[in-house]
Amino acid sequence: MLKQDIFLCNLDDLAEQEATELNVEQCPLFAVRHNDNLYAYWNSCPHVGVPLNWMPGKFLDIDKRFIQCSSHGAIFGIDTGKCVAGPCVGDHLSPVVLKQKDNDFYLTAGQKLPNPSINLRAQALADLEDS
Ligand code: FES
Repeated sequence: MLKQDIFLCNLDDLAEQEATELNVEQCPLFAVRHNDNLYAYWNSCPHVGVPLNWMPGKFLDIDKRFIQCSSHGAIFGIDTGKCVAGPCVGDHLSPVVLKQKDNDFYLTAGQKLPNPSINLRAQALADLEDS
């Protein structure tokens, strides 16, 4: 449970279709500015629970119309979080509850934190080091 509001960003710090990321108690999330609003989701693909992006801040498809998972290509509406194509079609990204004060956006206290997403790359590297 998030104990207090946490500052995420000011809308003016992002260009349209630009994303920002944050880690809260080991739970990664991202937010995208879209049509002068901000949409935030926990960074975990509903397909298998891995982070959506493979590069920092890169969450959108090449046309910047959808959020796209880098693992298997599922695409999600930016404003809905709903998967519209890919292996988890019909599933949704988990939204982060935001609070807005002027153009500043905050994560709202009291919301439940998700289970940390699976980091397959870190697991593979740890397995290599162990072998
Ligand atoms: S892990 Fe995202 S589409 Fe498979």
